[in-house]
Amino acid sequence: MNKENISIIILAAGKGSRMKSPKAKVLHTISGKPMLYHIIKASQEISNDISVVVAHQKELVIEQMSALFEDVNFVVQDAENFPGTGGAMKNVAPKNKKVLVLNGDMPLITADALQGFLDTDADVIMSIFDLKDPSGYGRVIIKDEQVQYIVEQKDANEVELKTTTVNAGIYSFSKEVIEKYIPLLSNDNAQEEYYLTDVIAMAKADGLKIAPLLVDEEHFKGVNSKKDLSDSEEIMQERIKTRWMNAGVIMQLPSTIYIESTVAFEGECIVENGCRICGETLIKESHIKSGSVIEDSIVKNSDVGPLAHLRPASYIEDTHIGNFVEVKKSSLKGVKAGHLSYLGDSQIDEGTNIGAGTITCNYDGVKKYKTIIGKNVFVGSDTQLIAPVTIENDVMIAAGSTIPSGTITSGNLALSRTKLRTIKDYFYKHFGKK
Ligand code: UD1
Ligand code: CA
Repeated sequence: MNKENISIIILAAGKGSRMKSPKAKVLHTISGKPMLYHIIKASQEISNDISVVVAHQKELVIEQMSALFEDVNFVVQDAENFPGTGGAMKNVAPKNKKVLVLNGDMPLITADALQGFLDTDADVIMSIFDLKDPSGYGRVIIKDEQVQYIVEQKDANEVELKTTTVNAGIYSFSKEVIEKYIPLLSNDNAQEEYYLTDVIAMAKADGLKIAPLLVDEEHFKGVNSKKDLSDSEEIMQERIKTRWMNAGVIMQLPSTIYIESTVAFEGECIVENGCRICGETLIKESHIKSGSVIEDSIVKNSDVGPLAHLRPASYIEDTHIGNFVEVKKSSLKGVKAGHLSYLGDSQIDEGTNIGAGTITCNYDGVKKYKTIIGKNVFVGSDTQLIAPVTIENDVMIAAGSTIPSGTITSGNLALSRTKLRTIKDYFYKHFGKK
């Protein structure tokens, strides 16, 4: 079905009280992006007319989503007078004849998984799945292979509660069905809310055909609690990692690795156990060793870790980064930084060796300053570089030196060390001789 013929409405106005969080539910993140982001992203693949219904923390939701997407309409729900998923539908005005309605708390949805709604032509299509533990979901009552109605857990009687067929929370309606039945919803139920799900029974009573579409929990799982959030995170992580392993990335103990949806790999890469790779990161032909954290950085033809931390805006190429090295907003090309260092706001060139314990002192408590290190520089262990500082090519810095702001010229040795004093037999004077 053509993109132009489908409208999508995403319900994202609820509080999400069961999350027990000051943050609106749809803004909680899965693999680095708000749940709502994943749903809009999938929706964009099948429709050009996407509306998101907002109310709770609407300014924040609109701000965050507008920063990520251009063509999304926002509709404000009058949640005070018309609470509930049916209330959320009161002000929507879809452009097209076929309208998909998605709950905003289903971050695992994909365009492929929604295909079933597009292939079937019925006035109402609703998604169902069978669960061993149906708690939290609306139960779908089916008689003679026909959907009769949906009853919410809080309104269900004992027999209905035992039903394991549940409403997955995605529907396809014709525009006429929405226009006709949404105004007729009532809030005469346990939660005193307007339930979108009541449209099913009303349409059925008028003789419309309700087509049930069997879907899988892996794509249609709803997130109501923080436990659901972590369960969905696991499914999303599995999906992301499987995709990259199929693309040629080697992962050791992948269940211990966290990779956000925005990360990309090229060529053969190895990611060892316990790594966390976030944001807009690109890793090309590199080896990321155990326990390393990489955020919004580019790593090419390098090895990083174990236990290294690349913070945002690091560019690492042909470089060795060893254990306990932290890099931030720096570019390292052809460098060795093997142990225990902080390299911030720096630019370090080919053939340079950064000794253990080297610190770029990039912050004076007010502003940040740059450290520039040229080619073939030997930085001795335990060096402090007080930025702004430039070390030209072919410089040697003696271990233990504090290099003040300024420039060290090519060919020189920089050495700042107090002269060694030894005081004869002081040990015995202090501790006594045994
Ligand atoms: C809903 C369904 C339930 C289904 C389940 C699937 C109803 C009445 N129940 O229940 O049958 O099994 O989804 O996951 O629809 N929302 C608004 N405005 C509101 C209230 C909610 O926009 O006033 C949005 C929420 O932000 C959320 C979505 O609607 O994204 C679903 O709301 P939620 O409260 O999670 O519904 P469930 O109780 O899970
Ligand atoms: Ca829900």
